[in-house]
Amino acid sequence: MRKKIIAGNWKMNYTPKETKAFIDAIKDKVSGTPHEVVFCVPYVDLATALEAVKGTDIKIGAQNIHQEDKGAFTGEISADMLVEIGVTHVVIGHSERRQYFGETDLGVNAKAKKSLAKGLVPIICVGESLDQRKQGVTIDIVRLQTRIAFLDIPEGDAKKCVVAYEPIWAIGTGLTASSDQAEEACKAIRDVLGEIYGTAVSDEIRIQYGGSVTASNASELFKMPDIDGGLVGGASLKPDFEKIVNF
Ligand code: PGA
Repeated sequence: MRKKIIAGNWKMNYTPKETKAFIDAIKDKVSGTPHEVVFCVPYVDLATALEAVKGTDIKIGAQNIHQEDKGAFTGEISADMLVEIGVTHVVIGHSERRQYFGETDLGVNAKAKKSLAKGLVPIICVGESLDQRKQGVTIDIVRLQTRIAFLDIPEGDAKKCVVAYEPIWAIGTGLTASSDQAEEACKAIRDVLGEIYGTAVSDEIRIQYGGSVTASNASELFKMPDIDGGLVGGASLKPDFEKIVNF
């Protein structure tokens, strides 16, 4: 039985003060649930968020790492820096990073491997564009992205990964994939993981849906057999996030 994981992806929202105010207001309603709850916050909010969730089972994640340990990479953040302050999760290869910051499938793989080597849980994002869906290549795209993301990741580490299926056309648009569309893609991801690692391993890997998840569609999506929770953007910044966690 896979434990559901519901992660808020705050993107570039909330200052440290706003972070404290939001977490203080919501933490009692989203902790102590049967699910794993993670807030993936901007780097400068991490320390505040970690302090604010102390004494709860809420986890704090970052939204990116650099794939190298250290060095001349101005403006970047390493996995060691995150681990040292208590961060446990990191979003890898979000479509906004692929789209605006040139991240590639192989770069995603390098970052996933670095996260695992340092003990961070990578939330690896995959998903098709609207054109790709219209061209009928959704399943090919998510299979390819998943295969490359998991290149050279041994099965013991693969089990620790979370995959987020996020159709790009559903992100921030108010258009949600139907539960059948989301299930089809999440199942395809589980199938390809099964081809790589065998079904005993792929059955343990958690696969989230992301893209305009709200309090009104969360329960239908999260009850699908291959959907193990969600990666939630806009709605994770609102009090309603509580309803998504307690779907
Ligand atoms: P959204 O974002 O929920 O605002 O669509 C999801 C995401 O980008 O992870």
